[in-house]
Amino acid sequence: MPPRQDLPPHPLPADKVLVLKVIPMPADVNANGDIFGGWVMAQVDLAGSVLPSRLGPRMVTVAVNEFIFKQPVRVGDILSFYSSVQRVGRTSVTVDVEVYAERFADQGRFVKVTEALLTYVAIDAQGKPQALPENAQIAAWRAAIARNAAQKTD
Ligand SMILES: CC(C)(COP(=O)(O)OP(=O)(O)OC[C@H]1O[C@@H](n2cnc3c(N)ncnc32)[C@H](O)[C@@H]1OP(=O)(O)O)[C@@H](O)C(=O)NCCC(=O)NCCS
Repeated sequence: MPPRQDLPPHPLPADKVLVLKVIPMPADVNANGDIFGGWVMAQVDLAGSVLPSRLGPRMVTVAVNEFIFKQPVRVGDILSFYSSVQRVGRTSVTVDVEVYAERFADQGRFVKVTEALLTYVAIDAQGKPQALPENAQIAAWRAAIARNAAQKTD
């Protein structure tokens, strides 16, 4: 579909990675007819795991640090999940996830419906935390986090 000319520039984040797109179905609704929050949380957990899983070790969710349902999600919305790494620890990675809905009846306009912060821990074969590998991916995330922190203090 060509971009609509009657809308302001879309608010999709340029500094985050598109990690998941999904369309909720009628089986996912709550008693109000909107999409059940637990379904959205499951998708956010999957989306949040995408960047940490690039490191190599098995990663498990240890915490949902923050979760905000800003707007309802409806059947047929096209949901786009954007993520970025916010913190790299010794064994854990914390990511944010922002979810944007393109409404079924209003395609081309994006509404932020959810934002969340989640932490994933690298585990070994015994299920115990293990140190993150010091690879190029980690180095790139650390550099990006330092750049963002420097920009905020400018
Ligand atoms: C994840 C798990 C292995 C961590 O074990 P643990 O002994 O509690 O680990 P630690 O206390 O050493 O903490 C490990 C890391 O998690 C972080 N962490 C622990 N609790 C946290 C919390 N509530 N919020 C944010 N980070 C947390 C620690 O800061 C540490 O990170 P760092 O090494 O980068 O500093 C263990 O809690 C577990 O198996 N949980 C179940 C995971 C799971 O099944 N998830 C799927 C959902 S059902």
